[in-house]
Amino acid sequence: MRAAINRTRSIAAALACVFLWLAGVSCSSEAEPDPIPNVREDHHSYSNPNQIRVTRVELDLDVSFERTSLEGSATLVLKREGTGGELILDTRDLNIKSVDAAGPSGEFASVDFELGDSDAILGASLTIALSPNAERVRIDYSTSPSASGLQWLGPAQTAGKKHPFLFTQSQAIHARSWIPLQDSPGVRVTYAATIRTPKELFAVMSAEMEAQQPSDAATPGEYRFQMPQPIPSYLIALAVGDIEFQAMSERTGVYAEPSIVERAAKEFEDTEAMMQAVEKLYGPYQWQRYDILVLPPSFPFGGMENPRLTFATPTILAGDKSLVSLVAHELAHSWSGNLVTNATWRDFWLNEGFTVYLENRIQEAVFGRERAEMEASLEVQELEEELKELEPRDQVLHVDLKGRDPDEGFTLVPYVKGMLLLRSLEKAVGRDRFDTFLRSYFDHFSFQSITTEDFLDYFSRYLLSANPEVAEKVPVEDWLLKPGLPHDAVLPSSNAFERVEAVASRWYGGGIELAEIPSGQWTTQEWLRFLRTLPEQLEADRMNELDKAFSLSESGNSEILHQWLLMSVRNSYAPAYPKVEEFLSSVGRRKFLKPLYTELAKTADGKQRALAIYKKARPLYHPIAAATIDETLGVAPE
Ligand code: BES
Ligand code: ZN
Repeated sequence: MRAAINRTRSIAAALACVFLWLAGVSCSSEAEPDPIPNVREDHHSYSNPNQIRVTRVELDLDVSFERTSLEGSATLVLKREGTGGELILDTRDLNIKSVDAAGPSGEFASVDFELGDSDAILGASLTIALSPNAERVRIDYSTSPSASGLQWLGPAQTAGKKHPFLFTQSQAIHARSWIPLQDSPGVRVTYAATIRTPKELFAVMSAEMEAQQPSDAATPGEYRFQMPQPIPSYLIALAVGDIEFQAMSERTGVYAEPSIVERAAKEFEDTEAMMQAVEKLYGPYQWQRYDILVLPPSFPFGGMENPRLTFATPTILAGDKSLVSLVAHELAHSWSGNLVTNATWRDFWLNEGFTVYLENRIQEAVFGRERAEMEASLEVQELEEELKELEPRDQVLHVDLKGRDPDEGFTLVPYVKGMLLLRSLEKAVGRDRFDTFLRSYFDHFSFQSITTEDFLDYFSRYLLSANPEVAEKVPVEDWLLKPGLPHDAVLPSSNAFERVEAVASRWYGGGIELAEIPSGQWTTQEWLRFLRTLPEQLEADRMNELDKAFSLSESGNSEILHQWLLMSVRNSYAPAYPKVEEFLSSVGRRKFLKPLYTELAKTADGKQRALAIYKKARPLYHPIAAATIDETLGVAPE
């Protein structure tokens, strides 16, 4: 007993040491775990929340499609934390017209402000001089047409082709391009918004719709929103367009363009079951409604977990629900990410690693273990591929992003390596105990932004002290600080995949014909595994054979089509070239664009074609996706 306690203590001390090491403080055996200076410092924000903290944002904005600009004001409610008299905000490409401040009387008067020089990654600071009794500031401003967090679509880029569309994407540090605020995930705000839209256009936000004066053919619209729960700035979101709603259950529904909404509601009809599955495991859903907005195809991500209203790419509408793990993922963020938030982008794995773990648990609960393991296995295969290309410094969970764009941390490492760490812990303590731990973690840190150190501290106090054997089984510090995958990683396995791999190699080796492959019942996941198991280099006749037998160039499933097009480019399979061009010109999802352009750029001829396609397609891409492809192809941003 004594020995066990001593061992627990020494493990706790060792963890405290890691804790200090993470904070850049050297650790001697007698070091006391002092409060650690600057541990929450966010290298991606100019703001000074430790002096003056913004606690609430009130937006009043007109949406102008003519000027591709949001115009109006942001009123920020302040809380004094220190003695400083200056409020420092983040901005990027904003046109600041005036700044006013109000004290207890509520009367606004003009104050001095200074916009700093613009940094390519961080944008420009906005420093506002305040008297000690200032309680609110109001900034009158407009956004730039090139705002990195906004995409303005012309009617041609929508499904209906009649109306324009606007959507925001604030994560990681793009909220500052459409709202002047403290753009750090360590700062949580409630928010309210009044949004005025042109005739016939509807507005939605990551908030509760309070009141609407719907726009019709004759009147512009005015929409009012409230977000009463404190959230980080990267979760503030807005979309405006010809949007309709269809309910799926009491508390879930779909927003989309009219021609899509019904199909989407069918595809996502299991959302309520998914919610109930997470609630059973990790506690009640805290955001009242869960709706999904299906965006036009230029949306640069698969999904974005904006609270109450996930934003999703239409490329997951496969018609057979086979790609809804993305909904499970974004829904899971309602716990991991939105409730318990990474305090800085260095701690991004706390958002994404936990979410991929939860996503997989949801898939298992709703669709069964077989499918969940297949999905996890595909994710791990992709991670292993990516690890071959990543520098060691980017293979660690606690990644140092100082001086870099937080976007550089967007790899599968925080996602899949993070998930594998949690799987290891689950295996070490058993599922029931691990679930109890996770539930208490979400409860303990709800509506807080936390660092990796906070997680470690809670982990060692809660889980490790009661289960000291975990420290021997799972080298948590290696997971956090070392590149690659530690030896204790529990890799998912699937019998179905073993069968698929076997037939793939038998066909390639000449042992069977494609017609003999029992592919009739294959799921999307099995198709993906089949294609990814084949050798990278395939002869023209083998490509032809595959395409003839399975009509892969005509696949209506975006994941399968993308995988096939990638193979086509790699193997110079010319019959698929028109499809490659069509795909790159109609889909803006970065996860699809980047590998295809990268593969094209590997040959001189491919690079020519890539540049020609990109020249035409670039104006259709979101600024975030365009920035990535500019880099992939080595072209100067416009
Ligand atoms: N929060 C992310 C998207 C994100 C991360 C945007 C960082 C900007 C910066 C979202 O939850 C996500 O992970 N989306 C994935 C899909 C998911 C199923 C892995 C995506 O878009 O690929
Ligand atoms: Zn995510």
